[in-house]
Amino acid sequence: MNQAASITWKSRWTFILAATGSAVGLGNIWKFPYITGENGGGAFVLVYLACILCIGIPVMIAEIMAGRAGRSNPIHSMLSLSRDAGGSRAWGVVGAVGMVAGLMIMMFYSVVAGWALEYVFQSASGSYSGAPAEEIEAHFGNLLSSDGQQFIWHSLFSLLTASVVAAGVTRGIGKAVEILMPLLLIFLLLLVGYSAINGNFKAGLHFMFDTDFSRLSGNAVLIAMGHAFFTLSLGMGAIMAYGAYFPGHASIGKTVLTIAALDTGIALMAGMAMFPLVFANDLTPGQGPGLMFVTLPIAFSNMSGGVFFGSLFFALVSIAALSSSISLIEPGVAWMEKRGWRRVPSTFLLGGIAWAGGVASIHYGAVFDALDYLTANIMLPIGGLLIALFVSWRLPRKVVLDETGMKGGPAFAAWYWLLRYIAPIGILIVFLHSLGLFSALGALF
Ligand code: TRP
Repeated sequence: MNQAASITWKSRWTFILAATGSAVGLGNIWKFPYITGENGGGAFVLVYLACILCIGIPVMIAEIMAGRAGRSNPIHSMLSLSRDAGGSRAWGVVGAVGMVAGLMIMMFYSVVAGWALEYVFQSASGSYSGAPAEEIEAHFGNLLSSDGQQFIWHSLFSLLTASVVAAGVTRGIGKAVEILMPLLLIFLLLLVGYSAINGNFKAGLHFMFDTDFSRLSGNAVLIAMGHAFFTLSLGMGAIMAYGAYFPGHASIGKTVLTIAALDTGIALMAGMAMFPLVFANDLTPGQGPGLMFVTLPIAFSNMSGGVFFGSLFFALVSIAALSSSISLIEPGVAWMEKRGWRRVPSTFLLGGIAWAGGVASIHYGAVFDALDYLTANIMLPIGGLLIALFVSWRLPRKVVLDETGMKGGPAFAAWYWLLRYIAPIGILIVFLHSLGLFSALGALF
């Protein structure tokens, strides 16, 4: 019996907390609003929601199922499931590439998390309190142009992540998430309320929910789909690794719907907090990665108690980032542990590689952009595609039926159908569409 089998999460609830901790992070609060701004709003949001529903949710169920059935790190889970089903050892590559993708994501994720940490202190020192919007914009610009500053905060965040992973994931995370996630939720609600009163709420909502498909490029569709994977932590085995600790009897379907609903809700709230401020302060929605770091301080700078609320908010964002970043490193560490390494050196080796990559992405903006684009829009969807194909075509239907705990019925049938046909075909269509293949064909006829 392998080690993981003897340690399962205390309950389905603990798993929900850990998986939600992984899913909810900078992807929701930082990335979703800014890519929505860059890609024109409403139509982009709609494609993103459709991808969550038709691709993200089915793939998440598949990942948890594979992790629970394989009871190990993603590489060994894929290997043993494939062996039992008479399949090829090559499926292990899915886990291996996922492990590398996790490190690559960490190489820019920890830089942005470092910005959030810096903002805890910037808020606490009152440096933007009462400042006009232009000055707040300049603050962010200053941080971006200081490699030294970014280096310090990125290193601190990397160290925090490594310490948690080194101590072992099952301890502590559930507890932290249980308290902090509801707090973050309440906070975002308050911010949405603030924006509704003080921002241009109508313009913000129009921007986010008016669907104008003429503004949607093939690349925007790819980004929307890639973000569905990114925000749910799918396609690289993070959720599979957590699935190895999923209690044997619990049903996966309901759990996944809960996680996806929380994750999507938080992203939409973050957008609804920011865009009204964008329009009320004559900022541009498509300003890029600085969106959160410019709009929210404007709110904090004007509200009473803003120094306190601002610091607390950025602390919550940093902790949400931490509960996500540990799941980027964990699959690799679990794999090394299984190969006979000890946890602490494994963590510091993998964390060190990610940290070095982060230093490179601080120095070279192109590295930062390439890592983000390549992982979210290419590697995660391909990983998700392979996991969907593996579970729905390679594993025997009976094994899948037993392992999902869904006991047949319409819910199982719908999921199985989405996973077999809709998710793979959808992913392929989006890839081809982004290459401009359809407009090329259209021009031909
Ligand atoms: N989902 C996290 C976020 O939205 C980021 C993340 C954590 C992630 N683990 C992952 C993304 C694994 C892809 C794969 O911030």
